[in-house]
Amino acid sequence: TAGELVDRFGRRHRDLRISLTDRCSLRCTYCMPAEGVPWLARDTMLSTDELVRVARVGVGLGIDEIRLTGGEPLLRVDVIDVVRRLAALPVELSLTTNALRLPSLAAPLRDAGLARVNVSLDTLDRTKFRELTRRDKLVETLAGLAAADAAGLAPIKLNAVAMRGVNDDEIVALTRFAVEHGYQMRFIEQMPLDGGHTWDRHAMVTQAEILDRLSSAFTLTEVPGRGAAPAELWYVDGGPATVGVIASVSAPFCSACDRLRLTADGQLRACLFARTETDVRDLIREGADDDAIADAYRRCLAGKKAGHDIGEPTFVQPDRPMSAIGG
Ligand code: GTP
Ligand code: 5AD
Ligand code: SF4
Repeated sequence: TAGELVDRFGRRHRDLRISLTDRCSLRCTYCMPAEGVPWLARDTMLSTDELVRVARVGVGLGIDEIRLTGGEPLLRVDVIDVVRRLAALPVELSLTTNALRLPSLAAPLRDAGLARVNVSLDTLDRTKFRELTRRDKLVETLAGLAAADAAGLAPIKLNAVAMRGVNDDEIVALTRFAVEHGYQMRFIEQMPLDGGHTWDRHAMVTQAEILDRLSSAFTLTEVPGRGAAPAELWYVDGGPATVGVIASVSAPFCSACDRLRLTADGQLRACLFARTETDVRDLIREGADDDAIADAYRRCLAGKKAGHDIGEPTFVQPDRPMSAIGG
């Protein structure tokens, strides 16, 4: 029954983020080393029947929002089929992508029932894009973004991880670009999730610094009613355009967290930074019924911590890289 996914801290969970694959077509420095990471073995990945079943049980427990993530979710060969089947559930279905496959997939995704997309766009400078993602694909990314817009996968949100010396000088330009196109720009504080374990709190571009940059060019007024959203939003020059900051490190939103994650290899995670996972893959393959899957959700949630503890001496980065957790 609805409302069952309440944890020890009274947080009700409604949002399931499903990673469709750990593969990616880019190699962003904040996520993966140039050579990639050891990929998940094919036979450990959930089939589409399996993942739809886990999602359906989650919906029975109160999940009403599903986001597809990766790696790059559009690299999954049957992504249209996945979307069609998940869209038949009573959920808002969205997807976070690097946009590279959107020129051909935007319209079929919409027709299959996808509501909207968030697109990662860290820079508008071709050279920087090539350095940051290790692929010369800015033009293709922008074409994918335009395709999503044309297909009506809106409102479109753009994600940029703010990085010192890389794109911190583009905060205003990226925002102008988004405002002009009717997208919502969001700047993200970098979290300690990179494959190379190079994250440094003092090097991180903070929300305060992002707001300073934005205030030099725009008048910002806070948008009320944030709820469980990770981004805090401001109207740009009186609106209706908004810009957001996801301050996961300097102002964590853990106390309002309503998220659970399912990895591509069938592990439930209560937190991006969880140190433990709850298996549903072997459970299903051993013939578990839906009640046993529901029980796995409850077990997963029972271990959820109050917050991520980034910056505390006890903090340990998760073993899995970001690309295998799903952003
Ligand atoms: P909307 O529902 O459209 O607001 O999407 P979203 O912001 O939840 O999802 P998206 O995939 O676009 O993620 C944006 C940023 O938020 C990424 O950097 C994610 O890693 C981060 N993020 C998403 N969920 C969580 C979370 O539960 N905890 C933390 N700390 N960061 C998260
Ligand atoms: N910290 C914060 N956000 C990150 N993303 C990827 N790695 C990190 C990180 N270390 C973001 C990407 C993408 C989203 C799914 O997660 O920018 O938009
Ligand atoms: Fe939720 Fe963990 Fe993200 Fe905090 S860090 S918002 S607890 S998933």
